[in-house]
Amino acid sequence: MNELEEAFKQKPKALILCNPSNPSGKVFTLEELETIARFAKKYDAFVITDEVYEHIVYSPYKHTYFASLPGMFERTISCSSLSKTYSITGWRLGYLIAPSHIIDGARKVHDFLTVGAAAPLQEAAVVALNFGDDYYEELKRIYTEKRDLFLSGLDRLGLTYTVPQGAYYVMVDISEFGFASDLEFCEWMAKEVGVAAVPGSSFFRDNVNHLIRFHFAKKRETLEEALKRLEKLKDKARERWK
Ligand SMILES: Cc1ncc(COP(=O)(O)O)c(C=O)c1O
Repeated sequence: MNELEEAFKQKPKALILCNPSNPSGKVFTLEELETIARFAKKYDAFVITDEVYEHIVYSPYKHTYFASLPGMFERTISCSSLSKTYSITGWRLGYLIAPSHIIDGARKVHDFLTVGAAAPLQEAAVVALNFGDDYYEELKRIYTEKRDLFLSGLDRLGLTYTVPQGAYYVMVDISEFGFASDLEFCEWMAKEVGVAAVPGSSFFRDNVNHLIRFHFAKKRETLEEALKRLEKLKDKARERWK
């Protein structure tokens, strides 16, 4: 918390909050969000939220919209996307919710950057936005199943990871493999084991090199195949050091 307040003391215009978080899968608690809200008010900063995984949250965790906290709508720019909730990554459809004077500014920039989203895709999005609650319950059920399948596989393989509370990624600790960097590890794993991961260092400003990110938004057969290939991981790593 001290670290966060120190950052606010530098007078930022805004804090960016990714909740649920990519890559860690963290879902911020109400108490944590209230702390951020207190600082945003005290240091007069905006909070720009990225809540694209708002509907992919694992029980018992709950997602709270930052803008819903008392007094926060005025200083929150809520960003979301349809790509995760409706499985349409690549459509590049999203939206902002903010007080109207902020939206006026955003509209001007948006017009110059993209002109607008493709009209037929917007028509399809309207259908999705009218889905009932059962759609969101099913989405959660499907991802919970994928998460449980993949994490139990990682357990069987004896890999160390942080349990995701939301989103569809898992950060695995690769310290035990003794590689000089996470990038080197990921390149080696793709070639030797046939499974790809994203080097964790791409998500950090500091020199963090011991984490990789898997994602499990895949069919059951694909996840099972990936886990099967990962069975060779430890042996291959041992061979490498011989
Ligand atoms: C946290 C986060 N925000 C935004 C995006 C991008 O969303 P879109 O598909 O709408 O460009 C992603 C996609 O990976 C994401 O993980």
